[in-house]
Amino acid sequence: MTELDSKSVIAWLRLLGEVYGQKKDYLTDLDAAIGDADHGANMARGFAAVATKLDALEGKDIGTIFKTAAMTLLSTVGGASGPLYGSFFLQAATVANGKNALTAADVGAALDAGIKAVVSRGKAQVGDKTMLDALLPALAAYQEAVVNGLVPALQKAVEAAKAGSASTQPLIAKKGRASYLGERSAGHLDPGAESSAFLLDALLTTASK
Ligand SMILES: Nc1ncnc2c1ncn2[C@@H]1O[C@H](COP(=O)(O)OP(=O)(O)OP(=O)(O)O)[C@@H](O)[C@H]1O
Ligand SMILES: [Mg+2]
Repeated sequence: MTELDSKSVIAWLRLLGEVYGQKKDYLTDLDAAIGDADHGANMARGFAAVATKLDALEGKDIGTIFKTAAMTLLSTVGGASGPLYGSFFLQAATVANGKNALTAADVGAALDAGIKAVVSRGKAQVGDKTMLDALLPALAAYQEAVVNGLVPALQKAVEAAKAGSASTQPLIAKKGRASYLGERSAGHLDPGAESSAFLLDALLTTASK
């Protein structure tokens, strides 16, 4: 598809409920190594709660859908990642306000607003071993490829997110709970970087249909 309509946005969020359900143990195991073993449960709980809201959102504009997802994540996820993913969707909602379809450029603007909100809330940068190691390179790759259209740009974004997440393995965490471990945080993938790569991968899957 060349645009992401509101039905596709609902399908994406529904898919995320399934994906985080399937990846719950994987993400929790990653968080057990460098955090408090709750990231998988947090994401599964949050997106399962989002999934329960989706039927009632049929026919609504994408801003409303993102805003509902944001409020649901803020109230159900907790920890560090709840406010971060909540801010992502809340700021993406401002770009999507009143729209029933997002062009490739609109998706870029929504990703830009959402990811910048994660930066401003978490105060992390590339190399700090957080979800931003996946999200920031993904945003740059998306913007570079946006002229080629939605799906090609998302393909580049997902490649960059996966590579960015893989790059967290040797890093020493500078932000969040993992930073308390200092050098002992090296040698493990960051759970939030992995969950962010899944988020974009699910968007690509949905947009490719
Ligand atoms: N300041 C930050 N900026 C961006 N991402 C962050 C930041 N702090 C943590 N994260 C991300 O959040 C992920 C951890 O999320 P999780 O759901 O496990 O929350 P938590 O760290 O256990 O929260 P808390 O410590 O408050 O219980 C990390 O893997 C990292 O990617
Ligand atoms: Mg945790």
